[in-house]
Amino acid sequence: MSMLIQGLAEPAHAVVTGASSGVGLALVTQLLAHPQIASVSAIARSAEKCLALQSLHAEYGDRLLRCAMDITDAASRAQGAAHIASRTPTLHVLIHAAGCLHGPGIRPEKSLQQLQESALTSLLQVNAFAPILLTQALLPCFRTAPAAVIAAISARVGSIEDNALGGWYSYRASKAAQNQLFRTLSIELRRSLPNLRVVSLHPGTVDTPLAAPFKANVPADRLFTPEQSAAHLLRVIAGVQNEDSGRFLAWDGKTIPW
Ligand SMILES: NC(=O)c1ccc[n+]([C@@H]2O[C@H](COP(=O)([O-])OP(=O)(O)OC[C@H]3O[C@@H](n4cnc5c(N)ncnc54)[C@H](OP(=O)(O)O)[C@@H]3O)[C@@H](O)[C@H]2O)c1
Repeated sequence: MSMLIQGLAEPAHAVVTGASSGVGLALVTQLLAHPQIASVSAIARSAEKCLALQSLHAEYGDRLLRCAMDITDAASRAQGAAHIASRTPTLHVLIHAAGCLHGPGIRPEKSLQQLQESALTSLLQVNAFAPILLTQALLPCFRTAPAAVIAAISARVGSIEDNALGGWYSYRASKAAQNQLFRTLSIELRRSLPNLRVVSLHPGTVDTPLAAPFKANVPADRLFTPEQSAAHLLRVIAGVQNEDSGRFLAWDGKTIPW
């Protein structure tokens, strides 16, 4: 089995958000199977009701900590982060896979006319504000790790330079904001915690509930299963060095322009 992260010899404690579905659930599953993993804290609003997490708990017992949290709610974040810190005072991996593209009252916009303040606010909260604020709450646990990675799952459509097609105003803006927030964190940590690397990652186009309404337009050979995407992402995370902190990388390790 491959190395989990560069320069880490000790058993590792990981946290994954978006753990009840899609890429996040596949990441939790593959992390639990990794011999270096001591524990995975799996965050989602439905963490306790999720059948897939229930069966992983039956298989892995207390190596899996299920944490029901609404990452957009400050009290829920504080309570969940305190619970995780009490169980695993040192963390080595944090992967933000929670995210939203569509939902009740939210559809990716095709034109300015369709833009709604409520959708803009919701997507910025889930995709940008919540991950950086949860990182803030968990950061003390990273201070004692000899090496660690914080990976924010972003999206290529969050790239401003790469935006040739337009549309999807709210989602694009939320991922661009997420990228800027984590890039800024990487710069702050470069001196204070040089072995804590912060990266933004594009998972590819993945066959999940988030992508379901749009997958008809994607050629079959460019649509990953969640398991394929998670394996790619864990490979990229395993290869991240200190000097890669602050980069925006795709599933194949290639740099994406901001
Ligand atoms: N699928 C793709 O093609 C694709 C492409 C590019 C980027 N991405 C990004 O990849 C990440 C994973 O997406 P996915 O496709 O795996 O999505 P998904 O299957 O729809 O899963 C989304 C996850 O986010 C969690 N979540 C949503 N709102 C939450 C909240 N307020 N609090 C806590 N958890 C919340 C959901 O859990 P609960 O509902 O239980 O809370 C669920 O576990 C996202 O950041 C997405 O933007 C996906």
